[in-house]
Amino acid sequence: MKLVIQGGNALRGSVKISGAKNAALVLIAASAIARGEVILDNVPRIADVEHQLEIVQALGGRVEWQEQGRLLLSWPDQLDVALPYHLAKKLRASNLFLGALAARVGQARMPLPGGCDIGFRPMDLHLKGLNAMGFDVELEHGFINVKAREPRGGRIYLDFPSVGATENIMMAAVGVPGTTIVENAAKEPEIVDLASFLVGAGATISGAGTDLIKIEGHPAASRGVGNSGETTRFSVIPDRIEAGTYMIFAAAAGVEVTIENVISRHLQPVIAKLNDVGLEVAVGEDSLVVKRSGPLRATDIKTLPYPGFPTDLQSPMMALLCLAQGTGVISENVFDNRFRVADELKRMGAQIRVKGHLAVIEGPVRLLGAQVKATDLRAGAALIVAALAGEGETEICQAELIERGYEKVAEKLCALGASIKYVD
Ligand code: EPU
Repeated sequence: MKLVIQGGNALRGSVKISGAKNAALVLIAASAIARGEVILDNVPRIADVEHQLEIVQALGGRVEWQEQGRLLLSWPDQLDVALPYHLAKKLRASNLFLGALAARVGQARMPLPGGCDIGFRPMDLHLKGLNAMGFDVELEHGFINVKAREPRGGRIYLDFPSVGATENIMMAAVGVPGTTIVENAAKEPEIVDLASFLVGAGATISGAGTDLIKIEGHPAASRGVGNSGETTRFSVIPDRIEAGTYMIFAAAAGVEVTIENVISRHLQPVIAKLNDVGLEVAVGEDSLVVKRSGPLRATDIKTLPYPGFPTDLQSPMMALLCLAQGTGVISENVFDNRFRVADELKRMGAQIRVKGHLAVIEGPVRLLGAQVKATDLRAGAALIVAALAGEGETEICQAELIERGYEKVAEKLCALGASIKYVD
């Protein structure tokens, strides 16, 4: 699938941000821990969510899309514990069923997960956490087998505040007796959303959003929390990465764009950087107005775990810095291979040098439409940034990767005045 964009149209108007992909993906897995039905609102209808739902169904769960963005999930008493290879390979977030199944059934079997090609993404911290809680963990022939041996609360220090490891440990800990403490935990808003959901379903968790999270597992909780007759209702937070991406689209090609359905405090590190490059951002109650009034200035960016600048916006920022006056330096500190988009941007005229985890971007350059390839979801978003600001037509191949995480991106950008369409 291709996205074809004619550059040069000015963006104006408002855009509504969808629910957060990375919150929805973990909540879908975590729904297995609730004994009763789960109703999630504000769920984005994107490819990664559909893939996660295919896994729910393969494990025996029931899935029903109700009205716009509302998803009903329910799980039988007996569920399968083995994730099918062909489904798990589709996305990295399939690994989140590990913690959920460990809590609900005391065991899980899954192939090492797939996902975006952005570098080495091991599972050691997830497995170390499960091991500390009394689970046997075995790796055999590309599969991870987890089985409760003597489940009990544990104390786990994460060498790096991994989002997925924090989530898997939190979920598994709900199903083991005793107290689990996660030190150097990830502090992302998606972690807070997971904790709020689990607490709503009957779990006891404190400290989410700080680097020390405490989970009180219930002795009899290994078959989930809550009662089978109860419904847990929860609304997914807005997607801070989608919101940040639209802010960058507006910076590249906008006049004035209102971004609705946001939690502005989740976007503080992004707003601060966009201010540095010369963008005006007015913060409303649940919206932002982004205005570009003059030329863009270069800045330096360091990606870091939350509340640092998000790695997921690094590629779109790289495209933006091509349009800014001066030399910008990006240092990528979360993933080891997230600069692949630089070569694609160079095809459009960008001047970027990459060395190890540093990228140096010289600007401003005239970006010219070209045939390019989305190498991953966020690289795809970066190419849209360049195409919107570029001259002439850009054809982005592998645009299905963009569909993994951006709901109705062509429709939303068209409504803002862009010329963008999908071609098979
Ligand atoms: N890491 C380890 N060992 C582990 C786990 C992670 O060394 O056991 C390393 C990774 O190799 C990586 C770093 O820790 O270098 C960060 O990985 P993390 O585990 O935090 O990432 P993740 O949970 O796999 C989530 C998001 C990503 C986002 C990262 C960082 C989901 C489904 N995915 O991934 O989202 O980039 O956190 O914020 O929540 C995206 O949306 O485009 C995306 C890739």
